[in-house]
Amino acid sequence: MELYNAILNRRSIRKFRDKEVSSALLKKFVNAGRFAPSGGNLQPWEFIIVNNNELVKEVFSTLKWANYLRDGTPPEGKRPVAYIIILINRDILPEGGEYDIGMAAENIMLSAFEEGIGSCCVGSINKEKLRNILNVPDYCEIELIIALGYPDEESIAEKMRDDSIKYWRDDNSKMHVPKRDLDKILHRNSYKNG
Ligand SMILES: Cc1cc2nc3c(=O)[nH]c(=O)nc-3n(C[C@H](O)[C@H](O)[C@H](O)COP(=O)(O)O)c2cc1C
Repeated sequence: MELYNAILNRRSIRKFRDKEVSSALLKKFVNAGRFAPSGGNLQPWEFIIVNNNELVKEVFSTLKWANYLRDGTPPEGKRPVAYIIILINRDILPEGGEYDIGMAAENIMLSAFEEGIGSCCVGSINKEKLRNILNVPDYCEIELIIALGYPDEESIAEKMRDDSIKYWRDDNSKMHVPKRDLDKILHRNSYKNG
């Protein structure tokens, strides 16, 4: 798959098929994560793969989904089958590191996309609950979760209408994700040149 097309076509997926994602693939995605750029090359990240059925359910209970939709939470039977939890090790980097984690997250999601696996980056996490579930030590901060599984929904990017950034689902359950126009956010040589 061509990288540029993958970047443009990857969408957040929140409905998944009941099909296992192999441990080998999950490890491959984490490996892609650790090759992300990192400020000062500190690589403050650590990763937890969760694919044990019971734990997958427990992790799900700590997450919030698709704020703009009334029915955005993945229904039973269509929930993620695995998660990659991205941590910042505060012994390595006491403050910051969020950019590094964001870049690792995108590497993970694009590698998954290349393998036909859908993903959603989730930041709305009950972190204290999750810390207990996964025995995360105090020196690690839970930063982001990548939810994963084979997609069971379609989502497309589209031109922004009515100035709204809110994604929406149509009558066929297809997701539409408005993206700001390139011309509105791109400046050439000076902010003023438009
Ligand atoms: C830092 C970050 C946090 C996010 N947190 C959540 C979340 O808590 N729940 C959720 O359903 N989606 C979450 N998302 C997914 C965004 O809603 C999604 O990326 C955005 O709507 C654009 O859609 P796209 O990924 O399909 O382009 C998050 C994305 C990012 C980058």
